[in-house]
Amino acid sequence: MIKTPLTRWFDLTTPVIGAPMAGVSGGELARAVSLGGGLGMIGVSGRHSAGFVTDQCAVPAASEVPFGVGLMIWALDDRPDLLEVTIAAQPSLVSMSFGDPAPYVGPLHDAGIAVASQVNTLADAHRALEAGVDVLVAQGTEAGGHTGQRTLLPLLQEVLALTDRPVVAAGGIATGAAMAGALVAGAAGVWVGTAFLSCTEGLNSAAARERVREATGDETVLTRAFDVAEGIAWPERWPGRALVNEFSRVWHGREDELVEDDDARRLVVEGRRTGDPATAPLYAGEAVGLVTTERSATDVVRELDAGAEKALRAASRLLT
Ligand SMILES: Cc1cc2nc3c(=O)[nH]c(=O)nc-3n(C[C@H](O)[C@H](O)[C@H](O)COP(=O)(O)O)c2cc1C
Repeated sequence: MIKTPLTRWFDLTTPVIGAPMAGVSGGELARAVSLGGGLGMIGVSGRHSAGFVTDQCAVPAASEVPFGVGLMIWALDDRPDLLEVTIAAQPSLVSMSFGDPAPYVGPLHDAGIAVASQVNTLADAHRALEAGVDVLVAQGTEAGGHTGQRTLLPLLQEVLALTDRPVVAAGGIATGAAMAGALVAGAAGVWVGTAFLSCTEGLNSAAARERVREATGDETVLTRAFDVAEGIAWPERWPGRALVNEFSRVWHGREDELVEDDDARRLVVEGRRTGDPATAPLYAGEAVGLVTTERSATDVVRELDAGAEKALRAASRLLT
């Protein structure tokens, strides 16, 4: 069994955190990850209702497994209710990402809830440490969804050098061997999203899962085009990594023009509504090529854990 400061803190049997993924990781996915021995998180965007958060949190809570919630800081200015209902649901961990976590750490700690924050730069890491964040998540640009520009391994090493608090690795981890690599590098755990994009418990559609299983790791793009088209106020420093499609081929890099083009923007809004893969955003990371079957998230966690244990044992044989 793999033990790290993260497994001890949250009483897990494996240091796998199921990343919050708005639109994919609801209560069922979080529950399935936690049943596998990890910590499943529920992804919440500024477009979700407070009732959605309460309902989704009730799913893992009913099974008495630990769970977490991931909030987007920049979206909370208009939606303070999302933090209130999250606190009321009493998760073990809340991720405050994509913004300054400082105002939120105190209220969460007062409610007995640990705080994680995804960091994309060294400056982000300093800010999170000063804010009193408990678990830093070094998120490399390989990650699916919204992310920064730095790759995981150098960022992870720099963040680890800053602190004794647990640092978790995110971005591109989809095999047990890669999980072992992150742990050997010093991470207290892994924060995995893309590997769960074709799970039976996800909120995403069957068509989206199929597209994920077909895609290779060569087919992602880090772009603001979908956010501009959908009119979502993501700060510019966090573009989103998505699968390349007809829309991104035409509009990635031409966001200034896109703002002025109502017809083009409508294509994405419509695509989102109908699920048209040519125009709808499908956020996924560079590890997408490793996702080839539809499975329970519980099995994905167990396989990561078993693969990591095997790789850790094999690694010791490299020493003479
Ligand atoms: C479809 C999708 C949606 C995501 N939504 C969120 C979100 O709502 N909140 C958040 O903090 N991170 C979100 N992320 C980023 C993940 O938390 C995580 O950093 C990322 O998935 C890790 O890299 P990986 O995808 O290579 O495993 C999302 C990622 C994906 C793939």
